Amino acid sequence: MQNSEDISIVNTMSTPTKSYKIDYKPNGKSIQVDPAQIPYDETGNPGSVLEIALGNGIDIEHVCGGNIACSTCHVYVVSGLDSCTPISPEEEEQLQNASGRNDTSRLACQCVANGSKDLIIQIP
Ligand code: FES
Repeated sequence: MQNSEDISIVNTMSTPTKSYKIDYKPNGKSIQVDPAQIPYDETGNPGSVLEIALGNGIDIEHVCGGNIACSTCHVYVVSGLDSCTPISPEEEEQLQNASGRNDTSRLACQCVANGSKDLIIQIP
């Protein structure tokens, strides 16, 4: 397992300006995300669903360290999907290897919320 500093984001979008909530299921942990506390990378991109989980003690597999070279960080964005970065071609390619993929599937390392909605994330 690599640490969250190794995780890179391909997508960019607006950064959150207000607090929002992420419910991680099935463990039932709810995280109130403070824009001032989100990890930001060197280009100013806010933390992904994966980085926020790891930073709050929620384990999501991430074998390639967030480099879009696996699908182990596959999650379902059950609610709030339209507030997240769009799927890049690289993410789409890896998602095709994800078991049980559906219309709410995302790679947690590439899914970044703009904070306009709360999210419900189902970890398969
Ligand atoms: S950790 Fe490998 S693609 Fe997300």
